[in-house]
Amino acid sequence: EKGGYDYFMLKEIAEQPRAVADTLLGRIGTDGRLTLDEMRISDQALREIDKIIIVACGTSYHAGMIAKYAIEHWAGLPCEVELASEFRYRDPILTRSTLVIAISQSGETMDALMAVRHAREQHARVLGICNVNGSTLPRECDGVLYTHAGPEIAVASTKAFLTQLVAVYLIALYLAQVRGTKWGDEVFAMVQLLSGMPDKVEKVLETMGPVRELARSLADEHCVLFLGRHVGYPVAMEGALKLKELAYMHAEGFAAGELKHGPIALIEDGLPVVVVVPPRARAVLHDKIVSNIQEIRARGARTIVIAEEGDTSVQPYADTLIEVPAVPTLLQPLVTTVPLQVFACELATAKGHDVDQPRNLAKSVTVE
Ligand code: M6R
Repeated sequence: EKGGYDYFMLKEIAEQPRAVADTLLGRIGTDGRLTLDEMRISDQALREIDKIIIVACGTSYHAGMIAKYAIEHWAGLPCEVELASEFRYRDPILTRSTLVIAISQSGETMDALMAVRHAREQHARVLGICNVNGSTLPRECDGVLYTHAGPEIAVASTKAFLTQLVAVYLIALYLAQVRGTKWGDEVFAMVQLLSGMPDKVEKVLETMGPVRELARSLADEHCVLFLGRHVGYPVAMEGALKLKELAYMHAEGFAAGELKHGPIALIEDGLPVVVVVPPRARAVLHDKIVSNIQEIRARGARTIVIAEEGDTSVQPYADTLIEVPAVPTLLQPLVTTVPLQVFACELATAKGHDVDQPRNLAKSVTVE
């Protein structure tokens, strides 16, 4: 059932182009307009929303962090993201016009379920993003948008994460459509680009040989840092989480702008630092991160740079350059996350670990 792969994780990484395509299927009309009928929350209700709060755990939380950028930009709504395990222990301000979005692959994560119950008690509307039909979370939400990743067996979430990204992009663009905010050229163009993403993910997968080789060469390291800005920041956190859970290595994802506020003190000779570079089209963001790369390299870091193809400006400062197809900034996590999954999987395998069953972890965390 592993389809010829040694691990489910490898199979699930390879399935990502299909998973992304399936999650888009039937949701984009020929006129480029979106239909999310099965969501069960009316357009009228969506027009009345004045704030969004996203709750999730682990990898799903990283999808939530990316959602915030997309929702604020396309839908023009304020959006907060909160770890589900923290949400009900503070006093979140929720009203009938707050939309809470709970993201959970399994639909059985207790922290997420408790957050959903808390939100409903406060009369907020709750939308679930879930991969498992018939699981608990969708039953407890007002509406649900299913991801179509198919069963995810490996403990480390890969294809479910990419489909969660697709789901949050669809929601953000749908909100723009029904609310009339920014609905026009940009949103229309985004929908078209979104339908081209399965091919881009496929292209990334075809070029993973050097990433595997790099990962094997780092199997004896003790620590890897990950840096990103904007949506590259949650991607950096996701890369670090994968490495922690699979390779049992100390790994941390930082917002590159925070470097000088502390983490730069960690940089020493030979320390591997993975940097996720935004597209050149976002010149200000892009140039800032290029100077971050120069700063850490000057202090001895071994720089592993993920950048869009043809980005020659990063070449002089990259010890290893991993190129991904050029896509708009907000969609970039769909292509920049993949090398980080492959990196962690290969590094952990080189260390002799079972990547499908990492120690101390369970696929669904059904206790608080
Ligand atoms: O099923 P969920 O999406 O609610 O799971 C949330 C986390 O437990 C999960 O993403 C976890 O962090 C993964 N093992 C990460 O790879």
